Amino acid sequence: MASKYIVITGISSGIGKYLAHLLIDHGFQVIGTHRDPDALQVDFFSEFGSIPLYMDMANEESIVQAAIRIQEITGNEGLYGLINNAGLAIPGPLAEVPIEKFKYQFQVNVFGNLLLIQKLIPLLQLQGGSSRILNIGSVSGLFASPFLGSYAASKFALEGLSDSLRRELQLIGIRVILIEPGPIRTSIWKKNLDVAEDYKDGSFQQYLEKATEVILQMEKNAMPLEVLNKPILHALLSTKPKARYLIHKNKFLFLLLAKILPDKWADYLVYKNLKSNNNKLRPV
Ligand SMILES: NC(=O)c1ccc[n+]([C@@H]2O[C@H](COP(=O)([O-])OP(=O)(O)OC[C@H]3O[C@@H](n4cnc5c(N)ncnc54)[C@H](OP(=O)(O)O)[C@@H]3O)[C@@H](O)[C@H]2O)c1
Repeated sequence: MASKYIVITGISSGIGKYLAHLLIDHGFQVIGTHRDPDALQVDFFSEFGSIPLYMDMANEESIVQAAIRIQEITGNEGLYGLINNAGLAIPGPLAEVPIEKFKYQFQVNVFGNLLLIQKLIPLLQLQGGSSRILNIGSVSGLFASPFLGSYAASKFALEGLSDSLRRELQLIGIRVILIEPGPIRTSIWKKNLDVAEDYKDGSFQQYLEKATEVILQMEKNAMPLEVLNKPILHALLSTKPKARYLIHKNKFLFLLLAKILPDKWADYLVYKNLKSNNNKLRPV
């Protein structure tokens, strides 16, 4: 396969870093974005094998500048793929989350993604109908858990954004694909374990302590990064990629809960889980 350019946002850790290695191994020229100015050193480039680019999804000017640089790198060849991976999860009760934090959640997970997509569409069009955008959504975009409302709202927004974009961009030869993983073993969850402390004077403290236990348990049962290989490679390489790839240990049970059970039943399960006194909490 001739080397094709692909942009992956957020390659400093977790899924982005893993996908950068995976796609380099599959012959792609990876342009990886990150926020660490030190990582722009030549050492990083040779060690990692990707072309590093500074970009902060919360800073529009840095997105515009990164897009200009990507155009310079890819030239007439254009861009084969964009993987919108960079993201964060801000936990906490929606009733009490500071509105600035809520906006930041959207700035990084939604607004920044759309701006980058808009800037890169002309480069994706140069591939003559084979290019694709992969948006890394989440099962939190299909089922909104309590105390993860900011994150869930941003991932629900990404679902709507991706559906509309897919129907628009099919007209100009760019595919838009949603990747919807369940919990995967990365550090995203550990970054927010002090949530109970942050809201200790609020109305939900006892439940937040349980929610922290749920997060820890979820991390323990999380899937390894390797579960991404098959769906990501299919989404990128197949001539008939799916519109969405749900990646979950138990797809059937998850879809039952998220799509089939009446909301009241799901609410009751969440309520029982958070109200129960035993420690055997299960992620919902
Ligand atoms: N792990 C899971 O269970 C899971 C499940 C479903 C979906 N996802 C999604 O997968 C994506 C990657 O998550 P992960 O689990 O790999 O988490 P991670 O290890 O925390 O990686 C997140 C990446 O996003 C970058 N990022 C955060 N804020 C940014 C900003 N303002 N501008 C630019 N980059 C920023 C981080 O860069 P810094 O190092 O500079 O912060 C890091 O490279 C996210 O969109 C997440 O919602 C994860």
